[in-house]
Amino acid sequence: MSAFNNYAFAGKRAIVRVDFNVPMDKTTGLVSDDKRIRAALPTIQHILKNGGSVVLLSHFGRPKNGPEAIFSLAQITAKVSELIGTKVHFASDCISSEAFEISQNLQPGEVLLLENVRFYAEETAGDTAFAKKLAQHGDCYVNDAFGAAHRAHASTTQLASFFPNAKMAGLLMNAEIENAKKVLHKAERPFTAIVGGAKVSDKVLIVENLLQIANHIIIGGGMAYTFFKAMGGQIGASLCEAERVDTCKEILARAKTMGVQIHLPIDAVVADCFAADANTKIANSGEIEANWMGLDIGPKAIETFRAVLLDSKTILWNGPMGVFEMPAFENGTKSIAHAVADATKNGAFSLIGGGDSAAAVQQFELSKEVSYVSTGGGALLEYFEGKTLPGVEALEA
Ligand code: 3PG
Ligand code: MG
Repeated sequence: MSAFNNYAFAGKRAIVRVDFNVPMDKTTGLVSDDKRIRAALPTIQHILKNGGSVVLLSHFGRPKNGPEAIFSLAQITAKVSELIGTKVHFASDCISSEAFEISQNLQPGEVLLLENVRFYAEETAGDTAFAKKLAQHGDCYVNDAFGAAHRAHASTTQLASFFPNAKMAGLLMNAEIENAKKVLHKAERPFTAIVGGAKVSDKVLIVENLLQIANHIIIGGGMAYTFFKAMGGQIGASLCEAERVDTCKEILARAKTMGVQIHLPIDAVVADCFAADANTKIANSGEIEANWMGLDIGPKAIETFRAVLLDSKTILWNGPMGVFEMPAFENGTKSIAHAVADATKNGAFSLIGGGDSAAAVQQFELSKEVSYVSTGGGALLEYFEGKTLPGVEALEA
């Protein structure tokens, strides 16, 4: 792997695979969270500053049948241009002759954004011939798309093979891997993992892997109720994955034999329907009345979780504690975000897994109070499941 910092970009065109899969505001048609674009700026600026030009390559959403306006990266060109601080050329197809003409004529300091690479089915199929075409856009390949590193797609894996002596991880990719490794392999103890979100099935693999490395696992969000069910509790109309009840029992038993403490939310904010203006009250999580559902962790749970977090030296957080998008059910996630921030202030290292948890710390304006907020959702999750990320592996091969 060529090291990004030592590579001579002067006079070279760099294909930079980025993850510009950013959320859009449906009413304004504007980028609603530009974190992923900002995160790629150091890599882009480094290349431009060193006399190179940049060909940006990204996916955007999950188009299934070729080009579609709602999945066009043309929608974000202005934002990308504004953030880089220079005009960005746009090619309306990533392998058309026009696209190659623009990339071949790029001058040092210039930037081209190619249209959504997923408009070609060959991308997700990991097609080598397609990757070979993409390779014509540049002299070297930089992968800065950590958020897509768990996908074995043409632009994240096969493309690298066309640059045996000029493929490298960008600065964001390196930072993501370094921070994730710090938690996975070098965690100072006590190490506490917070796992939340709606479904146990999404988090089984990460919890199983965390049992090998964490001292404490805090479980919150909708997934907690399947655990209460497994312990014989009454969970009313709360989320429950019946086919995962046995998995929860096994996790609890394994945690006991492995000396890992699992912390479940002892109480909950329960609601009489799934709505922002539902009637609410506090109940014990294992004693929820029929027709009531737990939509957030309760005050006693917050207090216990906070104490565990303030005692921790390493914290990994993936998944919210409740339906934090609704003000009535945001308090649990908000309080945990504050506890993580306070622990960080006291010297703990905190890594926030992307997706919902990253959105939560952002919503509560705590992004700067934690050690690192990942741009990866699924990618970070798979990393902590112990899997090898194909996008990372392709750079090393
Ligand atoms: C993400 O948003 O998690 C990444 O951009 C990957 O997107 P995907 O899940 O559609 O592959
Ligand atoms: Mg996704």
